[in-house]
Order: sequence, then C-alpha cells, then structure tokens
Amino acid sequence: MKIVVKESYADMSWAAAEDFLAIASSYERPLVCLPSGHTPILFCKYLRDHYLSTGTKPNWDFIGLDEWVGVPHSEKGSCRHFFDEHLFIPLGITEDRFSFFDGMAPDIEMEKRKAEEIIDSHGGLDIAVLGIGANGHLGFNEPGSDPTLRTQVIELEAITLHSGQSYFLGPKDMPTKGLTLGLGTLLSTSHVLLIANGKHKADIIAKTVNGPVGNDIPASLMREHPACTLYLDRDASGKL
Ligand code: PGA
Repeated sequence: MKIVVKESYADMSWAAAEDFLAIASSYERPLVCLPSGHTPILFCKYLRDHYLSTGTKPNWDFIGLDEWVGVPHSEKGSCRHFFDEHLFIPLGITEDRFSFFDGMAPDIEMEKRKAEEIIDSHGGLDIAVLGIGANGHLGFNEPGSDPTLRTQVIELEAITLHSGQSYFLGPKDMPTKGLTLGLGTLLSTSHVLLIANGKHKADIIAKTVNGPVGNDIPASLMREHPACTLYLDRDASGKL
C-alpha cells in the first residue's frame, strides 16, 4: 500500500481527486464506486470543480458502495442523497450512468444480486475510492466481515451508528443494518484509493498500517492489494 501524507485536508483531498481523475481518464468508461460521509466532501467538490470548469462530463459509470437499510434515497443522510447533492445533480449525471442499492427494497437479496450483476456485466470494478470508518470498516464491511463476500447486508456496530447520526438532519432512530459491496469485490477492484483525515482517525490509521493484516480491521486487508494508495492529512497520520 502506497501512503501519501499531505499537510491539510484540502491538499489530501486534491491529491486523491487528481489521482482518481488520472486513473479514470486511462479508461474509456470505467465502473467506479465512491464513498459518502464527511471525508469525501472536498474530494467530491474537486471532482465537481474539474468537470464544471472543463465543461466535460464524467466518463465513468457509478455503482453505489453502500446504503442504510430502511432509509429512502430522498432522505438527507442516505448514501444516495449524498451523491445526488454533491455530484449527480450538479453535474447532470443521469440515472443511466449510476446504480445504487435501494435501502427501501422489499427484497434485499435481490438488491445484492443486482449490484453483483452490474459488476459482472462490466467485467469488474475499475476504481474504488473508500473512506475508513472509526472501526476500520470499508463501505459497511464491519470488523469480522468475510473477506470473500461480493455484497452483504450487515448488522452495523454502535460506533458506525453513532458517527452515522451526524449525516442525518436532527435526531434519528438509526437503521441497524447496512447494504454494501463486500470486501471480496473491493479487494478485487483494479485501483483502490483510501482517504482519511483528522486526529480522530489517527488510531485506526495506525492499526490499518502497522497492525496485523486481517478482517478485524477491514482496511488493513488493503495492504495486500497490488494498487492501493492511502491518502492522509497530517492529523490522520499522527500516530504512524
Ligand atoms: P466519515 O466516514 O468519512 O464520515 O468519517 C468514513 C466511513 O465510515 O467510511
């Protein structure tokens, strides 16, 4: 795993966005997944600025990384809503270019199959940009997740629910389950960019980079990925 440390959140977001754009431009029409949450807000802004200032449209198709089970995509706090707000609506990305887990779908197994079929029909996922949760999760792959699964529905840990509260408007009865692309899918993606910023991520980054490789800290598994770069700001790298 290559590690890039930048002085600030802005610099680290820009470095990751530049790398993403360069990799994406080496493909004709890559399939990508991007993270929602606090970390990728500036990363998404830089993508937006790039496409708007150059008058170009993204050349990628997008597949949703994860979603809260029981949350509609219209609700602020849903993973899909994040992309509507930060990328899809501002860039005019239409529904034929993205797919997303539907957290309200009556048949969750079908949602998993649909995502797997999209990835299969593309011949695999080309680029995954991923945040790192306070417990080391990737997407909603919580500690202990089976590293071979292509998708999964999972019971979320208290720490994930706690940090997830801040994505929603006001107090929220948090959903307890998440739908996510699985570690098997993420580990077999051609290019992986991990992003993390802030002092509150320093402990989990130290475990990710220097602890044992294993699914106790899902992000640590990326140390064995052949083309993974971890982008950090100075604060997140503070305990390396
Ligand atoms: P955050 O979430 O960007 O809001 O810190 C990261 C994650 O849980 O993957």
